[in-house]
Amino acid sequence: MGCGASAPPPEKYRFHYTGDAGHEEFDEKRKAETDASAAQVSGRKDSFKAGDGKIHAAEPEAPASTPASVGAAASKMKRKVSAKDRFKNAKNATKTASAFSAAGKQRSKRNKGPHGWIAKDMLLGKASLDKFEPKRVIGTGLMGTVQLAMFKKDETWCAIKMIKKDYVCRHNDGRHIKAERALLNACDSPFIVNLFGTFQDKKFVYFVMEYAAGGELFSRLHNTKGIFGCNTSKFYLCEILLAIEHVQSHGYAYRDLKPENIMLDEEGHCKLIDFGFAARPDKDGLLHTNVGTPAYLSPEQLNHKKTGGYKPYVDYWSFAILMYEFMTGVTPFCKNFKDSSYEIYTRVITGKIKFPSHFDPLGRELVTALTNVDVDKRLKDAKSVKAHSYFEGVDWARVENRELAPPHVPKLKEKGDCHYFEQYGPVNDSEKAPDKIDHSVFAGF
Ligand SMILES: Nc1ncnc2c1ncn2[C@@H]1O[C@H](COP(=O)(O)OP(=O)(O)O)[C@@H](O)[C@H]1O
Ligand SMILES: [Mg+2]
Repeated sequence: MGCGASAPPPEKYRFHYTGDAGHEEFDEKRKAETDASAAQVSGRKDSFKAGDGKIHAAEPEAPASTPASVGAAASKMKRKVSAKDRFKNAKNATKTASAFSAAGKQRSKRNKGPHGWIAKDMLLGKASLDKFEPKRVIGTGLMGTVQLAMFKKDETWCAIKMIKKDYVCRHNDGRHIKAERALLNACDSPFIVNLFGTFQDKKFVYFVMEYAAGGELFSRLHNTKGIFGCNTSKFYLCEILLAIEHVQSHGYAYRDLKPENIMLDEEGHCKLIDFGFAARPDKDGLLHTNVGTPAYLSPEQLNHKKTGGYKPYVDYWSFAILMYEFMTGVTPFCKNFKDSSYEIYTRVITGKIKFPSHFDPLGRELVTALTNVDVDKRLKDAKSVKAHSYFEGVDWARVENRELAPPHVPKLKEKGDCHYFEQYGPVNDSEKAPDKIDHSVFAGF
């Protein structure tokens, strides 16, 4: 069954998060809108409780928006950093985290579960870098670097996300990383990466996670045929839907659903990673920050300054964008990676999606239902999505138990094989620890 159009050229370094970049231009132009459209916005405002537009206590503050931050993804490859040195230099490891014991206990409980998917318990004791043998950098992002390393004691391979304290202090006062850890600790889903624990030194906070050896779904999608067939799409969408449902069941919005943040584990099942933008809504059920990736944002996220906020179900809008991308190789509102955020936003706001003629008809219905700009008419919770005819015949209990056969099983030569990951330069250890870091921000890590 044909599902899609021709594949686009692989293009990894898309915008990572929006901040206000593009939003300002968008908001400016919106200001000049006619009375008619203003009336439309105020109409929509009624369905939200108007907020003050500020960051609310329940929600992590957005990193400051700078063109540099938007462009940072593009500079991923340029980073010259030295992973081995960083790991060998354990001198900086000044504190250990109680988080390890807590996470360890949680893992023990999970290990008794019926599935074989739980990473084994890591009894790290006092955590520090010298307990790990580094292999290489497997990912970079705005906040730092992700390293593959082996826990020496029991030879468990882990992905260690090293988050620059300097970055955290300059941009978001720690609430993002606190939310990331709190949510990962709370989650217990086969489709969400396992967090073993966290620790810190002078320059970094370290998140030690289960290693998803199959690489990013982004690479799987764009480095192979550029589109997924109907069955492959459906398999991944089922697992991702359960991951998002799980996140939402803990009262959080995930806010950064995209193929770069979905990994494949060694069996080929999905693992959602990167909870840096996850947040709980305020007491009115609203979120207020400009975060996410332009192509995956919903109209209400773009309108939130006028409407007073947006609700966690924006994740289901992004789910629809992902679905479209799986089946066509491009996102519906950003078909050319050179499109500016502003251009993307002007399209998002209309919600008008063109489907290639071979797009699966039921898939088309579901994407359309998930991207209705009228939120009252939109499909916006996991239960309704599961009940849609597109997913008819799916045995959700079998999905949850990882009983469906993955369409692609990574071919790994050994534990710690990382050939599904791009090559990055080593971590740069030459940087001095910045003088002005408020270490109290990191208390408890
Ligand atoms: N647990 C993991 N297993 C394997 N690779 C990972 C893991 N966590 C992160 N990565 C890799 O590192 C990249 C950046 O990590 P991520 O948490 O998404 O950071 P950022 O917030 O900077 O995007 C990911 O896109 C992925 O390639
Ligand atoms: Mg990411």
